[in-house]
Amino acid sequence: MTDLSRERAFILRETRSKAPPLVPEIRLRLADEAMDLWQATETDLGRAGLPPPFWAFAWAGGQALARYVLDHPDIVRGARVLDFAAGSGVVGIAAKLAGAREVVAADIDTYARAAILINAADNGIVLSAPDTDFLDCGAAGFDLVLAGDVFYERPMAVRVEPFLRAAQSAGAAVLFGDPGRTYLPAAGIEPLASYEVAVPRAIEDRDVKTTRVWRFI
Ligand SMILES: C[S@@+](CC[C@H](N)C(=O)[O-])C[C@H]1O[C@@H](n2cnc3c(N)ncnc32)[C@H](O)[C@@H]1O
Repeated sequence: MTDLSRERAFILRETRSKAPPLVPEIRLRLADEAMDLWQATETDLGRAGLPPPFWAFAWAGGQALARYVLDHPDIVRGARVLDFAAGSGVVGIAAKLAGAREVVAADIDTYARAAILINAADNGIVLSAPDTDFLDCGAAGFDLVLAGDVFYERPMAVRVEPFLRAAQSAGAAVLFGDPGRTYLPAAGIEPLASYEVAVPRAIEDRDVKTTRVWRFI
C-alpha cells in the first residue's frame, strides 16, 4: 500500500473542513483560495507543472451527483459503488451515507486518495481508495458507477465516455454529474435532475452553475 502520510500532512495543513453548498450534510477538507493552494502543491513536491488540486474543491458535477444520491437512496442501497474520478470523494461519501454496501473511490492523484480517506473518516464512514487506474482495467463487479465532473478536458473525456458505456453494457447503472463542460457527450444522454450550484468565481468565472445529473440512453 502506498504511504500517503506526506499528502495527508499537506492536506491537513493547507485546507480546512467545510460543507459544500449543495450537500451541507457532508464535510470536506477544501481550499480557501484556489491559486494559493495550487502553488503550495507545487512547492510541497518541489516541482512545477503538477496537476491542479482538484481534490480540494467539490466540483459542481460532483455536488449535483452527491445531492441526487442523498435524495434517492434507493439507487445506492446495498450496492457496490465505484466513485470514478472521486477528487475529494464527495460522491462516494454521499453514496455510503445513503446506504451503499461498499464504495470504491477511484482517483489517480495520490493527494486525492489521501483527501478521500481523510474526508471519509471525518464523515464517519469507510471506503477504499485503491492505487488503480480504472480506465485501464474497467469497472467489472460494480452495481453502480458514479462520475462527478469528468468531461472537462478532451484527453480524459475521450476515454471516460467509452469506459462508462462499457460499465453500463456490463450491467452497472451509470450516472454522471456535469455543469455543461466542453466535452460532455453531445448525444445519447438524458438528464435526470437539475440543480443550481454555487461555485467559486475564481475557478468557474461565475457564481452559480446549472448542473445536471445525466444517464446514457
Ligand atoms: C474535476 S475533478 C472532479 C472530482 C469530483 N468527482 C468532484 O466532482 O468534485 C476530476 C478528477 O478526476 C481525476 N482523474 C483524472 N484522470 C483520472 C483517471 N484516469 N482515473 C481516476 N481519476 C482521474 C482527477 O485527479 C480529479 O481529481
